[in-house]
Amino acid sequence: MMNLKTTLCEHAKIDFPMIMAPMFLVSNEAMIKAAIRNGIMGVFPSLNYRNEGELKIILSELKKFRSEGNHTGNYGVNLIVQQTNMLYKKHLAICLEEQVPFFITSLGNPKEVIEGAHTYGGKVYCDVTNMEHARKCASLGADGFIAVCSGAGGHAGPHPATVLIPLLRKEFPNIPVVLAGGIADGQGMLAAFSLGAAGVSVGTRFITCDEATVSEDYKQAIIEAGIDDIVMTERLSGTPCSVINTDYVKRIGLKQNFLERWMNKNSTTKKWFKLITQLRGMKKLSESIQPGSYQNIWSAGQSSALITHTASCGQIITEFKNEMAQAYQKLHTLFE
Ligand SMILES: Cc1cc2nc3c(=O)[nH]c(=O)nc-3n(C[C@H](O)[C@H](O)[C@H](O)COP(=O)(O)O)c2cc1C
Repeated sequence: MMNLKTTLCEHAKIDFPMIMAPMFLVSNEAMIKAAIRNGIMGVFPSLNYRNEGELKIILSELKKFRSEGNHTGNYGVNLIVQQTNMLYKKHLAICLEEQVPFFITSLGNPKEVIEGAHTYGGKVYCDVTNMEHARKCASLGADGFIAVCSGAGGHAGPHPATVLIPLLRKEFPNIPVVLAGGIADGQGMLAAFSLGAAGVSVGTRFITCDEATVSEDYKQAIIEAGIDDIVMTERLSGTPCSVINTDYVKRIGLKQNFLERWMNKNSTTKKWFKLITQLRGMKKLSESIQPGSYQNIWSAGQSSALITHTASCGQIITEFKNEMAQAYQKLHTLFE
């Protein structure tokens, strides 16, 4: 069973069908290298490398690391394909120049990424939360979907995996689907395969890895959080985002006020207001991952409730494999 090979393994050139999900301000070089060493796909948001020259440096370092070490994992980049991402065009050009092997696109129109990556055999998986966006991405030639389901960390989708994945499989039988949202152990991963997924994308579980440099308070808050401690807030980016319901989150509330909502919708103010809101949200997030911060907005998904301990990335991946094997055995006896 551990020789499990899916289309994701082929596309991403990895050994085990798991993606370490891109996480703004959390994904870092040590985590991606651990993913490469341990046979999975490590993806980071290009926006984690915003300063001039940084993205190019990390990309050449990862390319060298992978090619020199005889590793069975790989790396990829997450691009936010939206007008409010002022660095999008610049980052895309750098990624194409460095021939990044794998992309995850979020929001917006992934056309340029798909066309660019396909010139050298790179693969592009598009984040989708609904069928309409999936149809658009499929018509543009997406290689795969990341089905961002309810309960996910970050901008969670509205639909449960048990509905969205079978629907995507039915309408697009030739496009592999990766389940993102709510997977923190091997039991969940096994369930993803039973729905027809070609792999899983795991975010929240990896926030608590030893390699992550976020504050210990953030990691501890995930370990202590129960399922009802995760709430959706509009206060970070305007789009609902799942966070731990800290005292600070309770104090500032979850909804935008009347004026903010109006500016978010009005055609003349919309673009700039979204941009300002996102920049403010990015600043708040980066402050709260530092040690000693009191204004804590910590993004995490409902799978926090399943997480009980910190561990290295390598240990987390081994635990997934062992748990999945056990869950598989248990299922087997159930159907005997
Ligand atoms: C802290 C945090 C930051 C995230 N940042 C991004 C991001 O920059 N781009 C993106 O496409 N998804 C982002 N996500 C979503 C993840 O890539 C992934 O879809 C999600 O974490 C999967 O759900 P899970 O957390 O339940 O495993 C983020 C998630 C978290 C928890």
